[in-house]
Amino acid sequence: MTPQLARLLAELERFGADHDRQHRERSRRMLNITRDTGEFLVVQILATGATRILEIGTSNGYSTLWLAEAAGATGGHVTTVELSGDKAGLARANFARAGLAERITLLQADASQVLAEAAPASVDLLFLDSERSQYVDWWPALREVLRPGGLLVVDNATSHAEEMAPFMARVVAEGWATSLVPVGNGEFLAVRRR
Ligand SMILES: C[S@@+](CC[C@H](N)C(=O)[O-])C[C@H]1O[C@@H](n2cnc3c(N)ncnc32)[C@H](O)[C@@H]1O
Repeated sequence: MTPQLARLLAELERFGADHDRQHRERSRRMLNITRDTGEFLVVQILATGATRILEIGTSNGYSTLWLAEAAGATGGHVTTVELSGDKAGLARANFARAGLAERITLLQADASQVLAEAAPASVDLLFLDSERSQYVDWWPALREVLRPGGLLVVDNATSHAEEMAPFMARVVAEGWATSLVPVGNGEFLAVRRR
C-alpha cells in the first residue's frame, strides 16, 4: 500500500467516526466498514485472484479503496454502485486523492437497476453493503451476476443479525457454500457452487 493511500484511509476512518457521531440520520451517515473488514476483503481478493469486483453501497468510498488496492495486485477492476449523489461526489474525490480512479468505475445509480442490467456470471467477487431490506429482493439478480465459484461477501451479518436472517436463510437454502466470519460487523460469505 502506498503511503498516500495509508494516510487517506486513516483520515477517512477519523472522518467517518466523527461524522457519524454527529449525524444520527442513517441516510447521512458514512457507515464505513471497519479497518479489519478492509484487510479481510484484501485477503479474499488476493486469495481468489478476483479481477471483476462489484461493490453495492459505496458511501464515500472507504471500502472501495481497500477493494481497489487489492485489485491492483490481481490486475482487476472495481465497479461500485451508490444511490446518493452527495456520497458519490465524496467517493469520486477520494478515488482521485488515492490515485486509484482509473481502477474504479463509480455508478451513481440504484443497485436494482445495475443488477438488472449486468451480464450473467460477470462478477468474481461481490461485496454487498447497502440497504439490507432490499437483499432478499435483489437475491435472484445477485445469484445471476456472480460466476460459478464466485464469492459473495455481505457486511453486517452479526451486527444486524435479525435483519439479515431471511437473506442468509435464502442463500443457504439454495445450496451455496456459506460461512459466517466474526470480522468487523460480521461477514457472511457465500460461494456459488460450480
Ligand atoms: C453501509 S453504507 C456503505 C458503506 C461503504 N461500503 C463503506 O464501507 O465505506 C450503504 C450505502 O448504500 C447506499 N444505498 C442505499 N440504497 C441503495 C441502492 N438502492 N442502490 C445503491 N446504493 C444504495 C447508501 O446511500 C449508503 O451510502
